[in-house]
Formats: sequence, structure tokens, C-alpha cells
Amino acid sequence: MKTHNISRRDWLKKGSLTLAGLAMVPSDVWAESVKIAQANNSTFLYRTDNSFNEFTPPSVFEPKLKAILRANENPYGPPPLAAKAFQEEVFSGNRYAWSTLNNLIEIIAEKENVKPEQILMAPGSSDILEKVGMVFFQHGGDVISADPSYMSLINVSESVGGRWRSFKLLNDYQHDLEAMAAAIDKNTKLVYICNPNNPTGTITNVDKLKRFCSKISEKVPVFVDEAYIELSDNGLKDSMVSLISEGKDVMVARTFSKIHGMAGLRIGYLVGKEETIDKINQITRGGMGITGPSIMAATTSLKGNEFLKMTKSKIAEARDYTKAYLDSKGFKYMPSQTNFIIFEINMDGKEFLEKIYSKQVGVRAFTFWGKNWCRVSMGTLDEMKLFTNAMDEIFA
Ligand SMILES: Cc1ncc(COP(=O)(O)O)c(C=O)c1O
Repeated sequence: MKTHNISRRDWLKKGSLTLAGLAMVPSDVWAESVKIAQANNSTFLYRTDNSFNEFTPPSVFEPKLKAILRANENPYGPPPLAAKAFQEEVFSGNRYAWSTLNNLIEIIAEKENVKPEQILMAPGSSDILEKVGMVFFQHGGDVISADPSYMSLINVSESVGGRWRSFKLLNDYQHDLEAMAAAIDKNTKLVYICNPNNPTGTITNVDKLKRFCSKISEKVPVFVDEAYIELSDNGLKDSMVSLISEGKDVMVARTFSKIHGMAGLRIGYLVGKEETIDKINQITRGGMGITGPSIMAATTSLKGNEFLKMTKSKIAEARDYTKAYLDSKGFKYMPSQTNFIIFEINMDGKEFLEKIYSKQVGVRAFTFWGKNWCRVSMGTLDEMKLFTNAMDEIFA
């Protein structure tokens, strides 16, 4: 197996992105990196000095997949009323959407118990992760996060000159908060915590995390990525957002892509100190990238919770089905509180992806801690059956 790898810095450059042109970092960095890795015949998507890497899938834009279980999307979305609001708003598309955006910001500020000036809207939380990476690491410095964790902010931070210091998750898959706290020094610019974490799906104890964020944010800002928080067992009660109204230097990112079922509509937000939001706004323009219809869809989705409840219970059902299957076949998996499950595979990740894609099932494969892993998103039960049938054939 060829293991020719390219560095993140290289793939950003190969994607016609220079440091001067970083505003052009594609929102779908994953798809971009897949294309570049394929062109280079790379086994992995990016070179990392840490243990964590992702296997290059056989293709990105294959129309023939029957079960798309690789981007943790919500198979039930968007909520019907939100879709209707989106359609109706198209007719106001000749205008910039400032007033509807401001209205949404006010609704979110009230929900999160902060001032509107403490909210930054963006076309998805990827955009926020990338902007924070650029703004905080434009003059270098270290970012501390778990290994493995979600890589958007880390990749961009490294691409502009930052350095990733990673801390292996503990044996119970929680963040190693003690080691992370002890590692903070004068070079540390930011701590990134993904809770629940991606790609593991696991959650770090909320009381411990609150104590950590309170204490650490006296020294450096803490960024908590809560893309999956609504799906955790305790839902929004697990959020760190209340620390922000207490004045702590904590940032919380949320997205409408997961429980709200709007991944393709591109909308998310950041809550933080007013100074932090200002600092990001001085360089970039968050709200400018969101379309009016997406704003109205998000505004509508925030009004109701029937769809969110339905999604959560359907995801729990798919998770139970998948766990029962993995148990019956002896696959070891991590305890997920999200819409995906990661489990060990005793097979080269690239070979596994080729086999499962050929059965029209799309999942992700990673390597870390010296093992290969498959991460499968929770689709409909029919999609999960396609996945388990494919697994039966591959591991027969
Ligand atoms: C942990 C985490 N953060 C952020 C994102 C980005 O989501 P979006 O840009 O769709 O809001 C994802 C997407 O899968 C994710 O898993």
C-alpha cells in the first residue's frame, strides 16, 4: 500500500490557496482534501505528526451511494416548516438579509442569555472553526486539543503557522483535562474541546469540564465545539454556554447541521465575549456568507421542538440497532452520545473503504492509537440495514 502523504500546508497550497488568499479556504475542506489526496494517490488525507489520520475514500461525489453514512447528517431534515420558510424567503433574494439576520441574532442571544454583540453568525460552524483558526494563529502559537478530535480548527491553525499539541483521550474516552491544563504555557493561544467529541462520539463529564473551562479561561480562551450537544443524553444541559454570561473567556460553537437537519443550508453560530466576537469581525464578515432563506429556515426551526425530539429518538433507535449488531459480531465500539459510532476494524482502512463503497455504503475510516477504525453515521433504519449487510459480506 502506497503511503505517500502530503502535509496540510501543502494541500491548502495545492488547492490554489495561499496564505494571502486564506479567505478562500473552501467550506468543504474535507471534500477538497479528498480530491487532492486522490490526485496524489495518498493513503491518508493529511500528514500529521500525531497518531491521528483519516484514510482517503475511493471517491467523494459518487451519485450511486445507497446509504450515505459518512458526514453525520440528519436523514430526516430539514424540518418541514423550516423548508417552507426557506422557499418563501427566496422571493426576497434581491435584498441583503441584514434585518432577518439581526432578528435571528436577537432570538439566539435571548436563548443563550447573552447580548446580541456576543453572537457571530456564519454559514456553518466549519466557517467559525476556520475563522477562529486564522484569527488566533495568524502570528503562530499553540493550540491544545484531544487526540483524536475534530480537525477543522487545528488544520487551519497549523496552515497559518500554529502548532498542534494533542492529548490522547483517557481510557474512558474523556478529555484528559489534567494533562491539558498542565501543558498550558506562554505559547498556548487556545484550547479546543469538542464535546461530544468527533470522531469518537464520546462525552466528557460536564461538571469536570465546567471547572476546567472556568479555571483555564483565566489564562487562555477555551473554544468548546458543541456540534452534537443536543444529541447527548442530557442535551443542552451539558452546554458550557452559561460560562459566557458569567464573563468567562469561553467560546461555544453550535450548528444547525445536525439535530436541526440543515447541513446543506449552511448556518451556525458562535457565542463568546464581546471582545472575541469583535476580534473575529475585524478581519472577517461572519453574517455576510449566510443566505436569507437559510436564516429564515433556522429562525423557524428554533421555534419548534417536535422535529428535534423525533430526530433524537430516531437516532437513539438507529444507535441501538447498530450497537446490537456490533455486539453480536464482536466489534469493539466507543460509547456514543451522538449520531455516529466509531468501532475498531481489523483491516486496513483504505481496503475497508474500497470494499464498503463498492457496496454503495459510504462511511469514514481513521487510524489512531495504532488501530484502524470505522465511523458510521446514524441514518434511517433501512440505511443501517444496508450498512450491516455490507459489513456481513466484508467480514464473512
Ligand atoms: C465537531 C464538529 N464541528 C463542526 C462541524 C461542522 O459542521 P457545519 O459546518 O456543518 O456546521 C462538524 C461537522 O461534521 C463537526 O463534526
